[in-house]
Amino acid sequence: MATKVIKGGTIIAADRTYKADVLIDGEVIAAIGADLFGDEIIDATGCYLMPGGIDPHTHLEMPFMGTHSTDDFDTGTAAALAGGTTMVVDFVLPGADGLLVALQDWFQKAGKARTDYSFHMAITSWNKQVFDEMPKVVERGINTFKHFMAYKGALMVDDDEMFASFLRCGEIGAMPLVHAENGDVVAHLQQKLLAEGNNGPEAHAYSRPPEVEGEAANRAIMIADQAGVPLYIVHVSCEQSHEAIRRARAKGMRVYGEPLIQHLVLDENEYKHEDWDYAARRVMSPPFRDKINQNGLWAGLASGSLQVVATDHCAFTTEQKRFGVGDFTKIPNGTGGLEDRMPVLWTKGVLTGRLTPNEFVAATSTNIAQILNIYPRKGAILPGSDADIVIWDPKAKKVISAKTQKSAIDYNVFEGIEVTGLPRMTLSRGNIAYKDGEVLAPTGSGRFVEREANPSQNRALSTWKELTAPRKVERDPKNIPAGV
Ligand code: URP
Ligand code: ZN
Ligand code: ZN
Ligand code: ZN
Repeated sequence: MATKVIKGGTIIAADRTYKADVLIDGEVIAAIGADLFGDEIIDATGCYLMPGGIDPHTHLEMPFMGTHSTDDFDTGTAAALAGGTTMVVDFVLPGADGLLVALQDWFQKAGKARTDYSFHMAITSWNKQVFDEMPKVVERGINTFKHFMAYKGALMVDDDEMFASFLRCGEIGAMPLVHAENGDVVAHLQQKLLAEGNNGPEAHAYSRPPEVEGEAANRAIMIADQAGVPLYIVHVSCEQSHEAIRRARAKGMRVYGEPLIQHLVLDENEYKHEDWDYAARRVMSPPFRDKINQNGLWAGLASGSLQVVATDHCAFTTEQKRFGVGDFTKIPNGTGGLEDRMPVLWTKGVLTGRLTPNEFVAATSTNIAQILNIYPRKGAILPGSDADIVIWDPKAKKVISAKTQKSAIDYNVFEGIEVTGLPRMTLSRGNIAYKDGEVLAPTGSGRFVEREANPSQNRALSTWKELTAPRKVERDPKNIPAGV
């Protein structure tokens, strides 16, 4: 196999920073050290070498709200590579035919991927078929199950279904994920707002206040604790849900929180724009929040109460967003971000001093690799790891613009933001997948990454159960009254 050596760079890992060459043999890292030589030399002088980003939250070509998200595994993963991300984890939505049929469908769609990929399986209803198929999903290398507590009448599961599914996750060594918003309250508020003539995109935000997210996050945590499973909460956008996570973690519960790059940077004023299209393009759930929430999210990433920054990339064109003219509840929910996550996080996080470069690596790659049980194959620059490496030029600048993006939609929610720090080159399993503005990895070059079940992670969240496990009180028969 031909070898490559990346020379002159500084490796940033989640736990340390050091200068070294990296020798790549085929698809994996063969050695790290001084003065290494190989067939091809890649000069990384002045650059950082970081493990390729992992985005654990994407919706590519997903059927949703009467349409399909426009970025598919081809354009979505091209955008990912241009932004330094080398792996995505996409959500499989089952239809009436169950989990395994849907999974086949997703494998087919992902055949176009340019990055490696994995899936989370959504549980959107509860019946014997779902119960029986869950372990088969785990056998296919998928150890996470997503539950929507919102989207009433479509994807939402109630507490009964969620508890049953969480218990099943516990039995099979899988971890549940939740989209935490109280869907009943949202549905009620939506109807109230529409009845009052509030039908613009700003009403989307009014219908999903932070309390709706905080309540659902707290409820999901308590239900997971009863079921004895860890919990991963996607798109944590506000103090209310972050506080629930902090409280749970302080009690010893295994709860993980994932803020999105959008919520870290953009706020609810975006919905007050006088241009309907501008506001509608930013409609996603949870909505952008009062800026006051952002400080807490940044602090959570630094202090460890939040572990992962994702995108929830679910991109709709302006034309698709216009399905909701006159009725905000019909605006397809979702925004893009795959190309921008790492440059925006670096610019707004590392360059402002909110995150160290090591914390940046932890939040964009290493932590999620560990949570998803694919570390150190992914999420690390170590001998034996897949050679998924981003060569990061900390001096490179650009102004984010839809005109130059790889995503297939016609706008960008980060339009006009100047970023400093960009990938010069992205390597995917040893191949140069992106270089100087151009995506080189062909469509179909990505591979499915199997994730084994992780029973060791799967212990009761708190010690509560042991301390208060129900025990029958042995009573002298004379203290038991005769039955009637
Ligand atoms: O608005 C969003 N986030 N759309 C994608 C589906 C979801 O809720 O994650
Ligand atoms: Zn979804
Ligand atoms: Zn969601
Ligand atoms: Zn999502």
